[in-house]
Amino acid sequence: MCGIVAYLGEKAAQPILVEGLKRLEYRGYDSAGVAILSNGSMRIVKTKGRIKALEGILTSPNENEKLGIGHTRWATHGKPNTINAHPHQDYTGKIAVVHNGIIENYSTLKKWLQTEGVEFASETDTEIIANLIGYFYTKGNKTEENNGQSKFEWAVQRALHEVHGTYGLAIVCSDEPEMLIGAKKGSPLILGVGDDEYILASDAAAVVEHTTQAIYLSDNEMVTISPKGFHTKTVNNVAVSKDLKEIEFSLEQIELGKFKHHMLKEIFEQPEAISTCMRGRIDIENNKIKLGGIASHLREMTRTKHLIITACGTAFHAGLVGEFLFEQLARIPTETEYASEFRYRNPIIEDGTVVISISQSGETADTLAAIGQAKERGANVLGIVNVVGSSIARATDAGIYLHVGPEIGVASTKAFTAQVTVLTMLAIELGRRKLISSAQANSYIRELSQIPDKISRILKQSEHIKEIAAANIDKNNWLFLGRGFNYPVALEGALKLKEISYIHAEGLPAAEMKHGPIALIVDEMPAVFIATAGPQYDKIMGNIAEVKARGGKVIAVATEGDENIKQHADHLITVPDVPELLQPLLTVVPLQLLAYHAAVLRGHDVDKPRNLAKSVTVQ
Ligand code: G6P
Repeated sequence: MCGIVAYLGEKAAQPILVEGLKRLEYRGYDSAGVAILSNGSMRIVKTKGRIKALEGILTSPNENEKLGIGHTRWATHGKPNTINAHPHQDYTGKIAVVHNGIIENYSTLKKWLQTEGVEFASETDTEIIANLIGYFYTKGNKTEENNGQSKFEWAVQRALHEVHGTYGLAIVCSDEPEMLIGAKKGSPLILGVGDDEYILASDAAAVVEHTTQAIYLSDNEMVTISPKGFHTKTVNNVAVSKDLKEIEFSLEQIELGKFKHHMLKEIFEQPEAISTCMRGRIDIENNKIKLGGIASHLREMTRTKHLIITACGTAFHAGLVGEFLFEQLARIPTETEYASEFRYRNPIIEDGTVVISISQSGETADTLAAIGQAKERGANVLGIVNVVGSSIARATDAGIYLHVGPEIGVASTKAFTAQVTVLTMLAIELGRRKLISSAQANSYIRELSQIPDKISRILKQSEHIKEIAAANIDKNNWLFLGRGFNYPVALEGALKLKEISYIHAEGLPAAEMKHGPIALIVDEMPAVFIATAGPQYDKIMGNIAEVKARGGKVIAVATEGDENIKQHADHLITVPDVPELLQPLLTVVPLQLLAYHAAVLRGHDVDKPRNLAKSVTVQ
């Protein structure tokens, strides 16, 4: 949610900032801007719209401009327009700031600064940071107060003491044309350290093109960068030393390659991504699952009487699959809760309660807050996270990384299947320790190891699924129905369609349809049924008949070789046969493709859907 990038080095800053912003555009894309410095002057260019619009109004890069900051915005305070776009300058025109996060006490601070004669130009909360820094920079001009640091650094610290909320910041001052300051609290910020150049950014995607060495700032830390090097300290001016870490992913992983969209690339990456996620963790020969990150917590998990899974969006749907898995394989009472609800509703956390938080980005503010709430109440919190070193990865007591590489498409796909894969491995291992026989565990492990190949088979139907999307593209209301393990998949299928094709869709447990939603069914309304082989097959066939009787159009996801369903479905997509509890790993794939093709056919920007952001760092 909002991407920031800043550059200080030997090269012209502008093209590096623009390229970095393009890489971060999935974090927000309603307006963009840059502030570029050279010899005491500052040039700010910003506009409503995408990075392309910004590129259109930028002049040619100047080789002497070696320092700059940039931003791509997802609006919170103030409409997406040019005035509200970042960078924001202070009232003296010397300071410029780009910000990711929310300043909660901005209106109080704004009133105070206004009484001091400071004028504001925008509706944003960010402008208060620029003006506070400018205010202290101008007024607090005594060297002895600065604790031996530059006046600019001191003013930044002084301003940050006044603000409440979250921030990832990059700040420049025209009096200091060779100094860049970054600060972090609650929003991610990393510093890429190259040969004679530094890239400060919200995430590694903007850095990897230049260097794979980076430091990850922690909350309440700041970094001051100059051509001579950088130093890190707390915002209270206490020096901290940070280790350089290797960024785990490569440039290739964030490029489109032969694909038209990141979402499609990520859907097709799933066989490889899941294999990587399982690598070293499943040992078929010895019938073992090894989850190193949480090994010391497994005993406690087998004993717990209360497991809570908390997450948002797609990760929440993966959590629901986890709930079914933990209950079925290990008889652990499990509840899956939206992180945004959990944190506000005085949850019951008893001795021995285990909480699992799931997040692709590791930065979702509600999930992070839920973790805080759970920890405060004494729960042991484990994480299932994709982004290494992210806030959630660090906030949890232990965890399992997905290892599926960066996910750029705003609509989550490979992260979902990997989250379910991790939950499945964990549930099998807990089940093996508690309930199921070794032979049963072994058979699930074997089946799990074949999932990547089976997904590849489903992907071959992409063109067929495109035809189904095309045949229904004029329909504005869809239902997604599933039972048991496939109920969360129905929710996920509906979410995918809503997110990127803007078609209204509802996901439901199929049996619930007759308690209300059946009233929605009109002639030709598409109803997507997940009707795979399993104990509830006959029941779901009954639900299909109910829809057909009312004129609805049935798109069925069924098991390969199911001849019976052909007579009942208008469109059929098949998936290979697997045990019921592994079906979500397969049945979700055609629904991802259906949503993708529908969005493309409707002419939408699949990777940057309207009003959404990849990583929601506001609550
Ligand atoms: C946003 C994204 C969703 C994602 C959700 C949770 O809403 O658009 O795709 O599922 O956040 O994100 P997380 O990074 O915590 O999995």
